[in-house]
Amino acid sequence: MKPCHLLNLIDEPTERVEALVRAAADIKAEFRAHGPSNELKGRTAALFFEKPSLRTRVTFEVAMTQTGGSSVILDPSSISLGKRESVHDAAKSLSRWVDCIVARTFSQSLVEELAHYASVPVINALTDEEHPCQALAFGEMLLEKRGSLRGATVAFIGDGNNVANSLAALAGHCGMHFVLACPEGFEQPAAFLSKVNALCKISGGSYRQVRDPFEAVKNADVIYTDVWISMGEEAQAAEKKKKFNGYQVNSALLAAAPGSCLVTHCLPAHVDEEITAEVMASPRYVCFDEAENRLHAQKAVLLSLINGR
Ligand code: CP
Ligand code: NVA
Repeated sequence: MKPCHLLNLIDEPTERVEALVRAAADIKAEFRAHGPSNELKGRTAALFFEKPSLRTRVTFEVAMTQTGGSSVILDPSSISLGKRESVHDAAKSLSRWVDCIVARTFSQSLVEELAHYASVPVINALTDEEHPCQALAFGEMLLEKRGSLRGATVAFIGDGNNVANSLAALAGHCGMHFVLACPEGFEQPAAFLSKVNALCKISGGSYRQVRDPFEAVKNADVIYTDVWISMGEEAQAAEKKKKFNGYQVNSALLAAAPGSCLVTHCLPAHVDEEITAEVMASPRYVCFDEAENRLHAQKAVLLSLINGR
């Protein structure tokens, strides 16, 4: 039987996305009441990260430990995927030893190729196209803070990047209103947006792209931002910084949003670049609640894919 994977949010069935967000909140409550479980006792996740990480790597390792399992870190330079051996052979070999492969790669196609050959679940831990686990943790946070995702307005200020894509996909599935404010040339891909819009038609959500960040935040429940220069884009740093001037989440922008509007960031943040220290010190800045939820959202993914929970 073919395993289930989590390769992106946009192509996932809506019921599955909603179930994962709810499960994440339940798992967090269970953990707070009863501590670690043994649900993944004897199970192992292989963690393959081509790009740096703090949150994702730590939370996957801790998620395995807190559910009775363990993880093994694969060093990309020693494995040298596609050079020392083919993706086919690596995926087939790993599938004989471990119960799940967690992969952070540059290309989306590499995660998909791993999944194609693996007979164990593959989880996207961030690619250039999507960051599904981040969006699930954000969804869990909204559920906790608002009681529901439906009808929430998220204003994403900045680059139409991997994080924006997964959040827009979440919005499409869960009936949220997503507004992206970005400079010209940094919109989300048209093919991706047609999928988001198709989801919105069914869920009652909406998608809008504007130039003016002040217009974007007018009715926002949450302002979301992310770095202007994603991992792998270092060569474009100077040019991108110039173009994103004016897309900073600062006190003036926050003042243009409703008084109850929260602010978050997937982290790592570049202080006084995409977000100011002042906003980061505000009680409305809830990024660490979202970061905490990475642990539980990923437990929900691991338990669902490995154990069918
Ligand atoms: N937000 C996030 O994925 O953080 P890391 O890059 O540190 O894993
Ligand atoms: N957009 C960022 C997210 C980091 C978690 C990047 O890809 O570098």
